[in-house]
Amino acid sequence: MKQIIFSMIIFLASQVFCQKFDGLALTPPMGWNSWNKFGCNVSEKLIQETADAMVSSGMKDAGYQYINIDDCWHGQRDSLGFIHPDPDRFPSGMKALSDYIHSKGLKFGIYSDAGWQTCGGRSGSRGHEYQDAMQYARWGVDYLKYDWCNTEGLKTEGAYLTIREAIHAAGRPIVLSICEWGNSKPWEWAKPIGHLWRTTGDITACFDCVVDHGTWKSWGIMQILEMQKGLRIYAGPDHWNDPDMMEVGNGMSVNEDRAHFSMWCMLAAPLVAGNDLRTMSKETTSILTNKEAIAVNQDPLGVQGFKFSTTDSIETWFKPLEKEAWAVCFLNRAKSNRDITFNWQTQKIADDFSGRKIDLTKGYLKIKDIWQNKNVGTTKKPFVAQIPGHDVRMLILEY
Ligand code: GLA
Repeated sequence: MKQIIFSMIIFLASQVFCQKFDGLALTPPMGWNSWNKFGCNVSEKLIQETADAMVSSGMKDAGYQYINIDDCWHGQRDSLGFIHPDPDRFPSGMKALSDYIHSKGLKFGIYSDAGWQTCGGRSGSRGHEYQDAMQYARWGVDYLKYDWCNTEGLKTEGAYLTIREAIHAAGRPIVLSICEWGNSKPWEWAKPIGHLWRTTGDITACFDCVVDHGTWKSWGIMQILEMQKGLRIYAGPDHWNDPDMMEVGNGMSVNEDRAHFSMWCMLAAPLVAGNDLRTMSKETTSILTNKEAIAVNQDPLGVQGFKFSTTDSIETWFKPLEKEAWAVCFLNRAKSNRDITFNWQTQKIADDFSGRKIDLTKGYLKIKDIWQNKNVGTTKKPFVAQIPGHDVRMLILEY
């Protein structure tokens, strides 16, 4: 009885004091988004086929859930101000598409912008926040990515609070993905507002380069990785740093794709695929669906990994996992092969943030190589390996 009364008080309080819908992203969200591969070229056919491919490729079984339409799905607002999809691209309407996605056991994500217009020039949510949230709730939306173009005069935290309140008022639990590119340090204020926040500008399918578009730049995998410095203390269950959607399968080499995916797993980053799921190669599928790499990403502790050391072009990253286990990733940033030797016995591996350390006096840990899918000894002996250029060796250590 006491428990029922307590739950009722909590429920009533949550109706009075608005808040984000808690518990929707206890591990980093996993899904797919149209932008990286298709840009504005979205349609209901693409989205339906992608939902089919999410299931047939094994991605759904591996844990991917969300099918997210990014920019440019929009048509016009009606005379009352409600937004509708582009009737040519989405002739059956969003509710039918959402039902289709849900019928596959998947979830439906959509995109809007805090400003007058989206980055792609479609109608933004400014002045229509409550109506848009209501419309998304009617359509059965489960995830909203909320962008930051054309926001002159708006303050970031306030604008994202408004859409949070609007979602709450609409009454449907929706993951809120904050996308203001890290400009106003959302990691410092967004934990009570959204479930994830972008930490950088846009990613591009290049391992180590910057693409200059004139008024803005897009960033390679290594550049984005650098920008995560100092941010891990802000992330955890239900509030994640988002280093942007993935470029796996979008033109980098297999080694580079593997390194990119491994690092997103080490960072406890949202795993949102950005490639064409309908035509992906076997290599791409096997990277995106590697169960052990995904388990590192989805570990319930939700501790973002950290860079332990840099030697020449080799970075060594650690991520504490539940049950006293650890993930380790050796990343070779150079283009050519590198030989490494890592002596577990002489390194002091400790993480002040999580309070975890590797204590070899408790016994040696067994080592499993994630990508080679085999056991490779224990921490008794140094780990000796050659790592190809732009690639990783990723290990699990457990007692
Ligand atoms: C911004 C975002 C991208 C994408 C585009 C859409 O650049 O950062 O991820 O959503 O807008 O126009």
